[in-house]
Amino acid sequence: MKRLILLNGPNLNMLGKREPETYGRKTLKDVVRLVKDTAWEKGYEVEDYQSNHEGDLVDRIQMAEDNAAGILFNPAAYTHTSIALRDAISSINIPVIEVHISNVHQRETFRHHSMLAPVCAGQIVGFGIDGYRLATLGMIEKIENEGRK
Ligand code: DQA
Repeated sequence: MKRLILLNGPNLNMLGKREPETYGRKTLKDVVRLVKDTAWEKGYEVEDYQSNHEGDLVDRIQMAEDNAAGILFNPAAYTHTSIALRDAISSINIPVIEVHISNVHQRETFRHHSMLAPVCAGQIVGFGIDGYRLATLGMIEKIENEGRK
């Protein structure tokens, strides 16, 4: 069975409790369930990982290339700062889709810029946690279409 990696960055372990007016009441467990169910229906399994540490996320991106077809990634605050994560994404040959729960473009200006977007296959922003489901479907379409070329 083909595999996707679901990566979540800093503070996303606090979903449900953290600023619910911005991120809603659903928890990270709900996100993981949603992605796993969506992927499973299309014949994919999902390995999930959350970390508050930049280097851990770099490690996971590097490891993913050998055992997954794509990465769904909410880099959280590292989106706006991390050259290390950008370089990690650039160094692998599987697609990465960047996901944000909130509409970052309606928020503080420092959230408008993504260091990672230029090296990602796509970006989904502002659909709440449903964005993870949309990213899963988009990723699978991408993998299957590219496989057919
Ligand atoms: C976020 C947006 C980021 O700006 C923020 O630092 C997060 C969450 C989102 O999912 O909306 O932690 O990635």
